[in-house]
Amino acid sequence: MAAAGNEWWRHAVVYQVYPRSFQDSNGDGVGDLQGLIDRLDYLNDGTAASLGVDAIWLSPTFPSPMKDFGYDVSDYCDVAPEFGDLATMDRLIAECHARGIRVLLDYVPNHTSDQHPWFVESRSSHRNPKRDWYIWRGQKPDGSLPNNWRSVFGGPAWSYDEATGQYYLHSFLREQPDLNWRNPEVVEAMHNVLRFWLDRGIDGFRIDVMGMILKHPDLADNPPNPNWQPEGAERMQQLWVNNRNYPDVFAAVEGIRAVLDEYDDRMAVGEVFGTAEELARFYGGAALNGLHLAFNFQLIHEVEPFTGYTQWDAATLRRIVANAESALPPGSQPCYALANHDRPRFISRHDLDGRGLDRAFASVVLLMGLRGTPFVYYGEEIGMADADIPEDRLQDPARFRYFGRDPERTPMQWDASPGRGFTTGEPWLPFGPAEISVEVQENDPDSLLALHRRAIWLRRGELSLQRGNYVEIDTAPDVFAFTRHCPGERPVLVAVNTATEDRMLTLPPGYDKVILATERQAEGRPVEGDVVLPALAAMMVARSSAILPA
Ligand code: GLC
Repeated sequence: MAAAGNEWWRHAVVYQVYPRSFQDSNGDGVGDLQGLIDRLDYLNDGTAASLGVDAIWLSPTFPSPMKDFGYDVSDYCDVAPEFGDLATMDRLIAECHARGIRVLLDYVPNHTSDQHPWFVESRSSHRNPKRDWYIWRGQKPDGSLPNNWRSVFGGPAWSYDEATGQYYLHSFLREQPDLNWRNPEVVEAMHNVLRFWLDRGIDGFRIDVMGMILKHPDLADNPPNPNWQPEGAERMQQLWVNNRNYPDVFAAVEGIRAVLDEYDDRMAVGEVFGTAEELARFYGGAALNGLHLAFNFQLIHEVEPFTGYTQWDAATLRRIVANAESALPPGSQPCYALANHDRPRFISRHDLDGRGLDRAFASVVLLMGLRGTPFVYYGEEIGMADADIPEDRLQDPARFRYFGRDPERTPMQWDASPGRGFTTGEPWLPFGPAEISVEVQENDPDSLLALHRRAIWLRRGELSLQRGNYVEIDTAPDVFAFTRHCPGERPVLVAVNTATEDRMLTLPPGYDKVILATERQAEGRPVEGDVVLPALAAMMVARSSAILPA
């Protein structure tokens, strides 16, 4: 087991695979685990010709009616037939481990599918032993719903079940009933799910909506949200205080952590929402007995409702990072993502003026420069944008009340062929434009893919980037700059110009060599004092001449 402070997940770069969309091996138009195995060399073949990621997170791979594309699990201890079977998963784990890649699965503790045998039993009768595994309530005496909670996907969080005359709670789709984590049998069963996969060699989990698994014990109504604006989501008319980040959740987090601690070197990263302070609580306070990492999504969106995405603006980025840095307990580190399967892709969020690609280049330097564990969503490394999807090909049921997430889930574009190297069949979602592909960027040293490879491999060899501290430095407006330094190593300065014009950066003494730049030609250049950071450019500069004393 690695010494505290040096665990693998602290310096890992994690790549998120959306299994349906990564690589199809059998021509059914849906990605699968064998396809992923066939592509592992792209992720890390041990050389700088590959991306060089240390770990992958697979969005859910379990049997599921796929109402929410796997986030409606009907069996936690198996593999969905469209993705493969347990033997393929075992092979995937072995093949990953042979390449030094760790594997994280997606643990969905808040709800199951309504087709899960537990729920089928639970809904069968009031007296069924599994009745209390879910959250059932009758209507109020006045005939109204058990409480005022809304579903994340819109509409009431309660659905009526004719057979037994009660409502069940579902924080998402009606096909995703919430488990009752106040029932010790549920806790035991869900802990055993973790053990099932940990025993098979899984290195850890991304935990779905971690902050919602324990609600107010009496399911008290949420109070009205005094700050709600009519342009915000309807569900945010109330403050989600009794069904999200409710204080009892943190004990459940500790319970999950304790299961992981039965094994060596495993980790859990939680999908959590809230302020920097709320996120920090998931780490377990000073004892650090909570999650190893909690996602900080604020580089994507700062506050709910999601009426706007975070702008590529130095002051905003600096504030978000400063908040994260000051809120986290000592010994912990942030975990940033710039994209995932639930939000528009980075380029599409930053392309209003047509310069999304430039910002994507700069974002790589920032993400790989920040203190914390970076997560990269598949396809971001080649600059995939949200695809235009005709109405009749849309898949995501959440689109009816929430926002459709199909555009950011389209298949990986390996080459320009009709099947994009992804499938020989009809893809489950249409492709984006053929110009964007791994094949096109593979041998172009100025491509976004090439920058990802250089940045990740640089980080792998640069302990200051992996483990160093974070110190903000004062700069011109529109420039976000900071240094990273690990005792005994050369310090590295990271600078991002978010303006669409050149800006001057004044380097502190000693920073003398560009080691990574959005403009590749600048790499390796000696620098000193005042340097021009071109419009939307970013760079890393090392203090190569002197290793600062520890
Ligand atoms: C998480 C997932 C999202 C899913 C939801 C319900 O937010 O990332 O894709 O729809 O949980 O499980």
